[in-house]
Amino acid sequence: MSSHKKFYIATDHAGYALKAYVKDFVQDLGHEIIDLGPDSADRVDYPDFAKKCAHAVLEDEGSFGILICGTGIGISIAANKVAGIRAALCHDTYTAKLTRQHNDANILCFGERVVGKGVIEDMIEVFVSTEFEGGRHAGRVVKIEGCSLGTNLE
Ligand code: RB5
Repeated sequence: MSSHKKFYIATDHAGYALKAYVKDFVQDLGHEIIDLGPDSADRVDYPDFAKKCAHAVLEDEGSFGILICGTGIGISIAANKVAGIRAALCHDTYTAKLTRQHNDANILCFGERVVGKGVIEDMIEVFVSTEFEGGRHAGRVVKIEGCSLGTNLE
């Protein structure tokens, strides 16, 4: 699998201050990153930007997303409403690594008010370089989609 990855990034106003920094960091790692907004720190609603990023990721096979709000919670909840999206709210390298290995996460979320730049850099590095393990995890990832359809109820 190619090590060059394509990312889409979006935030709300509470994640906006980190966006330029994260974009530079991802580019310096040799990856592509497309900014879906917002274009200023004016107050916006995080579900609008979660939706934009989620749809961009789904429409561009093999791409990934980065979503940032104040806590990372609202923007990840909103993104996960879009079928096919597995948006992982991460706080450290362990969660960033395991969500790729076990959940095949396609969007990395974090909170600007929660994690510092050092942790963010490490999370991005591990998220981008870790592959989905498949195997026993593959069926569970399929069942995630079943949750919204109600098809995997015992
Ligand atoms: C905005 O104030 C804040 O609620 C938002 O960024 C996020 O933390 C929501 O979960």
